[in-house]
Amino acid sequence: MVQRETWATRAGFILAAVGSAVGLGNIWRFPYQVGEQGGAAFLFIYLLLIVMIGFPVILVEFVVGRNTERNPVGALKRLGSGAWTKIGWVFVTAGFVILSYYSVVAGWTLRYVLLGLQGQYTADGAPAQFGEVATGLDAVLLHAIFMAAVIAIVALGIERGIELSVKVMVPAIIAISIGLAVYAFTLEGAGDAYAYYLSPELSTITSQWTTILPAAAAQAFFTLSLGMGVMITYASYLGEDRNLAEDAGIIAGLDTFIAFLAGLIAFPILFAAGIEPGASGPALIFVSLAAAFAELPLGGILGAIFFGTVAIAALSSAISIMEVVVSYMIDERGVGRVPATVALGVAMFVVGVPAALDLIFIDLYDGFANSILLMLGGLLLSIFVGWIIPDLAIEEVSKGIKDVGSLGVAWLWFIRIPVVLALIVLVALNAWDY
Ligand code: PFF
Ligand code: NA
Repeated sequence: MVQRETWATRAGFILAAVGSAVGLGNIWRFPYQVGEQGGAAFLFIYLLLIVMIGFPVILVEFVVGRNTERNPVGALKRLGSGAWTKIGWVFVTAGFVILSYYSVVAGWTLRYVLLGLQGQYTADGAPAQFGEVATGLDAVLLHAIFMAAVIAIVALGIERGIELSVKVMVPAIIAISIGLAVYAFTLEGAGDAYAYYLSPELSTITSQWTTILPAAAAQAFFTLSLGMGVMITYASYLGEDRNLAEDAGIIAGLDTFIAFLAGLIAFPILFAAGIEPGASGPALIFVSLAAAFAELPLGGILGAIFFGTVAIAALSSAISIMEVVVSYMIDERGVGRVPATVALGVAMFVVGVPAALDLIFIDLYDGFANSILLMLGGLLLSIFVGWIIPDLAIEEVSKGIKDVGSLGVAWLWFIRIPVVLALIVLVALNAWDY
């Protein structure tokens, strides 16, 4: 057997995991979810769920990955038997559907790079412009281009590139986002926007928690790349000396920071333009940013850089999704890497075409894969780790922590009861809503 590679540096692992986590989920999906769910109440519950569910579930995936040193499907076969090994099916189906529309939205970002370079952002015309970009033959073409890039990278197995791209991309996103947030701060109406985004009203939470909670949980899973085995895969390359909890904290912290910044940019701009954030849906970030860049000196170039960075962030996330599905085909069906990647990429492209023609399909795919399958995958894996392999889980999570005390046990019981119960309710609510 070939010696398995491990991450050369701790930074290598963190960067790849961050590369998967940071993507359209932060910059595109998060702000419009905040808008649809009524603002600060959503933000507040979202932050709570990142800590209470997202963080412990990252550790569930890490434990499985590092212990088995396998891809998600192989890992489950090694640790479990019977029906447990079938959790991999949930992962693979989720990955397939998510990538099919993720690529469509990534295509929009490519179009906005071009619009910037051509100096075509418009403040007043931003909503109409989005309408033209998001659907039609153009959107299909850009979807094809993005998917081709994903296929090329995964087929060639050159994921080394991830490390490099993340090293450039994450600092670039943070730097440009901070700049834009400062600009947004200077706009008229910024105060109202901050109130909307940052100060939750208790009455909103109490009256709307049945919709806010499941939506926030789905967003937490999506943004952290949870529930489909990505974090199992990445942790499978991790050495025994690493403190998993610390790494999980860094990944979740950075991901949350970038999403938070996206909101600080989008809402003041929308308020200044008099656009109702709740009604914007998937258009929200594109409309607000195009309007902002239209007003800024060198806005076209700046916008092209920003959307280009987002496209790269989307690419490193998309690669991680494709890798899960491809590794399943290779291991389970004995297909070669190149044919598996090409066949899956083409199939995902075809499934994504309706989403490039009508926004309805974005909601449809997103609702099914993200709000149901990802959380179902996370739920099943949490039950498995918490109840079927508890001793191994505690041992694994405790490695690399100096004074572990009863932390491992506390985490285990937290997974076993509150996390599992919460996920059962939340998946049921999302399925009902769907
Ligand atoms: N976390 C990515 C984002 O926020 O854009 C999306 C994603 C990647 C979801 C990988 C799920 C996944 F397995
Ligand atoms: Na994310």
